[in-house]
Amino acid sequence: MKLPQGIWSTRDASDLITDTEGDEALQKSIGPVGLTAMGVGAIIGTGIFVVIGEGAQMAGPAVILAFVLAAVTCLFSALSYAELAAAVPVAGSAYTYSYATMGELVAFIIGWDLILEYGVSVAAVAVGWGGNVNAFLDAAFNYEMPKSISTSPEDGGVFNLPAVFIVLAITLLLVRGTRESASVNLIMVGVKIAILIFFIVAAFTAFSSGNFHPFNPHGASGITSAAGVIFFAYIGFDAVATGSEESNNPGRDLPIAIVGSLVIPTILYVLVAIAAVGVAPISVMSGSDAPLSDALEKGTGIAWASAVLSFGAMIAITSVVLVIMYGQTRIFFAMCRDGLMPRSMAKIHPRYGTPARLTITFGVLIAILAALVPLSEIVKLVNIGTLFAFVLVNVGVVILRRTKPDMERPFRTPLVPFFPIIGIALCIYLMKDLPGTTWIRFVVWLVVGLIIYATYGFKNSRLRGQKGKV
Ligand code: ALA
Repeated sequence: MKLPQGIWSTRDASDLITDTEGDEALQKSIGPVGLTAMGVGAIIGTGIFVVIGEGAQMAGPAVILAFVLAAVTCLFSALSYAELAAAVPVAGSAYTYSYATMGELVAFIIGWDLILEYGVSVAAVAVGWGGNVNAFLDAAFNYEMPKSISTSPEDGGVFNLPAVFIVLAITLLLVRGTRESASVNLIMVGVKIAILIFFIVAAFTAFSSGNFHPFNPHGASGITSAAGVIFFAYIGFDAVATGSEESNNPGRDLPIAIVGSLVIPTILYVLVAIAAVGVAPISVMSGSDAPLSDALEKGTGIAWASAVLSFGAMIAITSVVLVIMYGQTRIFFAMCRDGLMPRSMAKIHPRYGTPARLTITFGVLIAILAALVPLSEIVKLVNIGTLFAFVLVNVGVVILRRTKPDMERPFRTPLVPFFPIIGIALCIYLMKDLPGTTWIRFVVWLVVGLIIYATYGFKNSRLRGQKGKV
């Protein structure tokens, strides 16, 4: 068989699935509950515990609508993810789907873009974890770690020890095994849901409808800009798709897990947002680093609220780090297996069945980043990268329906091409309101990726017969 040569060459979906069966295969060990918990694990974290404060500042009480708008945007893309994940259950998620539909160049770009979504966001989220550890120690024991070892240089410290600690601890867990990681995740998901329910119930005891006026002080553009930031709170359902290769029954379980893991946080978020707006004047949350505990403490006078909520945030963010980092390793794993990144990195550990070398390398790189970067701007950068990936996944569904109409699709997105087109339009709508600086950083990141593709990926791609040694 003559292999296709160009940068637009696609890989056949059935070939991609065959790759998952050889000695570069990942162990199949996750069921539907584990998969849904993975999604919820990746989703509920910094967004609801921290970023809601920024949303409140931008939209006022209408931040509730920003949560709804961001959720609807995700829902259309989630349906597209569900279709592709079930039909092409291979570890690389959006990267792999693009390879099967739009060709190698687009696949590489998306894989590179997903490093922004996953790798960079883990570093940012780990920094948020460090902040919550300090908040918890302060609230519970009246003790705080010295600033020099708990914040980045830009924020006046030397390096962020808690952030490094959490990244390395999770790295070891991921090396140890997927099943072990999934079990630990399940417990953390239970704890964070319980704490959000505690918040909702406690806040409703001191609910005042007066806090809803004026409801929409910054108009429609306030809501859209807030949704562009709040979007961060929903990132993660796509991480379920990166677990597809390790799923026992991908055709049935993946669509349930992808859509389910979006719906559960959406319901919780909207209730939390209503409760948070109702319990205290919006100014309490606006721009706060710990908006939920501030609002609860102010509104109800419960003095131990911040200890409970910072503890909840710590657990919540731990599982975000776990699942997103897992997703990052699996996407990069797929890129290595395809030869677009060094294939030797994709080696599976003989005893644990996980890509240990790759996991450790990423763990160390992300830990270095987490030691040194501040949280603020990175959220927007991660959002633009993720929205871009969603656009391509929606495009992928439409293309694959045309090019492979007869392919087996255990789950079909309704009303194609209309639903994917609505998904694309909503993503672009949120992207357009992100700041110009975010756009510039995003383009610079993509250009760096293109240079790597031109100098390494193109030559070493498996499509060009460079099998390489694993
Ligand atoms: N959705 C994840 C969070 O909010 C990334 O932390």
